[in-house]
Formats: sequence, C-alpha cells, structure tokens
Amino acid sequence: MNILILGAGGREHTLAWKLNQSPKVKNLFVAPGNAGTALIAKNIPIGVNDFHAIKSAVLENDIQLVVVGPEDPLVNGVHDFFLQDSALKTVSVIGPQKAAATLEGSKEFAKEFMMRHNIPTAAYQSFTSETLEEGYAFLENLTPPYVLKADGLAAGKGVLILNDLQEAKDELKTMLVDAKFGSASTTVVIEEFLSGIELSVFVLTDGKGYKVLPTAKDYKRIGEGDTGLNTGGMGAISPVPFADNVFMDKIHERIVKPTVEGLKMDHLPYKGFIFIGLIKVGDDPYVIEYNVRLGDPETEVVLPRIQNDLLNVLEAVANQRLDEIDLIIDKRTVATVMMVSGGYPEAYEKGKEISGLEKVKESMVFHAGTRLENEKVFTNGGRVMAISSYGSHFKDALEKSYESIEKLHFEGMNYRRDIGFDL
Ligand code: AMP
Ligand code: GLY
Repeated sequence: MNILILGAGGREHTLAWKLNQSPKVKNLFVAPGNAGTALIAKNIPIGVNDFHAIKSAVLENDIQLVVVGPEDPLVNGVHDFFLQDSALKTVSVIGPQKAAATLEGSKEFAKEFMMRHNIPTAAYQSFTSETLEEGYAFLENLTPPYVLKADGLAAGKGVLILNDLQEAKDELKTMLVDAKFGSASTTVVIEEFLSGIELSVFVLTDGKGYKVLPTAKDYKRIGEGDTGLNTGGMGAISPVPFADNVFMDKIHERIVKPTVEGLKMDHLPYKGFIFIGLIKVGDDPYVIEYNVRLGDPETEVVLPRIQNDLLNVLEAVANQRLDEIDLIIDKRTVATVMMVSGGYPEAYEKGKEISGLEKVKESMVFHAGTRLENEKVFTNGGRVMAISSYGSHFKDALEKSYESIEKLHFEGMNYRRDIGFDL
C-alpha cells in the first residue's frame, strides 16, 4: 500500500518510522516532511492546507491511505474534501471530518459537547463583543486565577491565565474588541480554574468503537520547574506513573466512553485519533481540551510503545473493524526530550548544522524542525529534534536520552534537563 502522511514535525517522523516497520507498506510519502522523514520516506514539498496539490500527489503516486498529522487541515475539512471528490473518495483518510474537528476548532463547541454528554469539565460561559459587560460581571463572580480562552485555533497561544481581576477584564476586552487573536477571539470562553496535575489520554476511534492508547504527560513550558513561556512541548513521558487502574477506569467511564458515544449521537463522523487533555483534581479527571490529532511530542513516546503493525490498525479504523484489533502495549516507559533552537519560543535562528547524529545508538531521534541539504542536517525550526528512549523506569529512559543529547550539537541548542521533575 502507498501511504501519505501530512505534516512536518516530530509527530509525523514518528508516524513514518512506525509505518515503515510494516511489511505491507510499499511507498511512504510525507508532505512536506523534514530531514528525518527524507531519510526513510519520500518528501513531497507541498503544504498541508493545499488540498489541490495534495489531490495531485495522491493521484500521481497511487496513494490509498492518508494520515493527517496536524489539526488545521482537519479543521479546514481535508477529510470532507476527499469524500466529495469522485477521484479521491475511495482513498482512506485518518482524521475526523470537519464537523467533528470542530471539537478542537472551537472551544465553545467543545464545551457545549461536554455539557450535552455529561463529561466532567470546568464550569464556563462564553462571550462576544456584544456581551462584554456580562463578561465583566461573570469575572467579578469568579475567584482568581481567571482562565480566558480564545474560541478558535490560535497556535497554542489562545489561553490566558491571570491573577488580577482588572487585568482579566482588560484582556477580555483586548480579545473581543481589539481582536487580539484575530477571528479566533471573536468569542471567548471564560472558565473556572482547575488546580491539579495534567496528563493526556489518546484514543483511536473508527466511529463505532475505540481503543485507548498509552497515556502521556508533556512539559509545555520552556523553563525548568515549568516556568517561562509556553512552547509546543519540551518533553514527554509514557505511561504516566500516577494514572493507575482506578484512575484510568474513571477516565474510561466518565470521559472516553461518553465522548465516543457523544460523537455518534451528534452525528460527528470520526475516524482517527482523539487527544484528550485532562487534569486530575483530587482523585477525579476533568477535561481541559480536546484535540483531534495526536500530540507532539506525545507521539514520540506513545507510538514506540505500541507493538502492533500500525498499518493494520489504521486500516481497521478506515474499514470500521477496530473491534477486531488487540492492541499490544510495551510495558516499558518511553521518555523524550526536545532539543530546541536558542531563543525559542521567541525569535531564534535557523540553518545551524547538526552534528553527532551518527553517534546516537541508544535512543530514537525523531526530527521536527530540520532539513536535509547535501546529506547534511540543518536546523529549520524552533523545536528541532525529540530524543526518545526506552527504560524500565522513566528515570532510566530519561538518562539514556540525556546521554544521547551529549553526543549531539548545534549552535545555540537548548533543552530542559528536568523532564519528569514533578512525578
Ligand atoms: P488548552 O489550550 O485549553 O489546553 O489550555 C492550555 C493550558 O492552560 C492547559 O494545558 C492548562 O495548563 C491550562 N488550563 C486550561 N484550562 C484550564 C482550567 N480550566 N484550569 C486550569 N488550567 C487550565
Ligand atoms: N504537546 C501538545 C500538543 O500537541 O498540542
């Protein structure tokens, strides 16, 4: 089978690495890909939102399965585009249709979905510029900190957590009236603040049934001790040590089952990965957000723990035969540490040569922002590479990743030395 993966990050390199292990994969393509995917698949230099270029690539290369990595093509309706095109409708797409992708594309939609299906989440109310005064009154009745969320996609930057009431009011106005996040903040969701430890659960559904994939915890802040600016993710660990059977049962019963049942009830067509961001408050799980894709860098620790042929699993999703699959999960921990460009997540330079890759033997190197030129690898983004390792305990896995990082170098490289510090 010929397969196309859409995306260019560590998540997509990991998907390519895993699919490459399947004897049933004939040709593997990644669009646009990075230096890591160039070494194991064929990169196609087109954007993930250029549906017409994607169509040409699919027809030219006789592609039968498309795996969508990031959220924006899904929210923009790439799956629907395939279903509506007579030449593409027999091609399987892994990723929800547009209506279901709204779970990530609109926080208000996601909150209404959770309310309708009794899925535990923070209390909330949403506001527009017409209801600004009511928004102020709602804030006055909350206790700090105040959580303000732009309704639409804002590249991970649309959530503000503020301690001061006046500051919260000012930010609400900036979001609604001055369009701080463009059209993404035409509506703002204000939420009750939940205090606890976060984790993520990944679910794969074929629209009928589902499989729960390994849990993971990511580290979003740039600075050690979870300080400083938010990033796309500086490291991750799977499984999450505190997610014991009792807690996982609560997640299944209160969150995963009603989510998949809710999608069916609301006629939201979903064949793909659901990433449920959770917070543990006391002993109970609450949903912070839904994403309609795999996480990055969570994928770099979740997929290495799945022992099945991933193509078999994805074909079962496409054919709605997921109930016939038994997932086999590696008991070991996988941890990943993200190497980033100096200055990230603010301004940083690209084009630095990466050395030492051939010396790394004990870890898996998943490329994110890299590019290949004359057989040399150069940095090409803020998050550069995720270094993943297996271990009997997360500490052993991390030690291996840190030893591997010692062998790697590029000018300005930075990484967090404290992944797992809170576990
Ligand atoms: P989101 O983009 O919805 O995942 O939010 C980004 C981050 O903000 C989350 O990972 C949490 O750390 C934090 N956050 C979001 N909503 C809440 C909430 N209701 N209470 C506490 N923290 C939150
Ligand atoms: N690591 C968080 C995300 O992929 O959204």
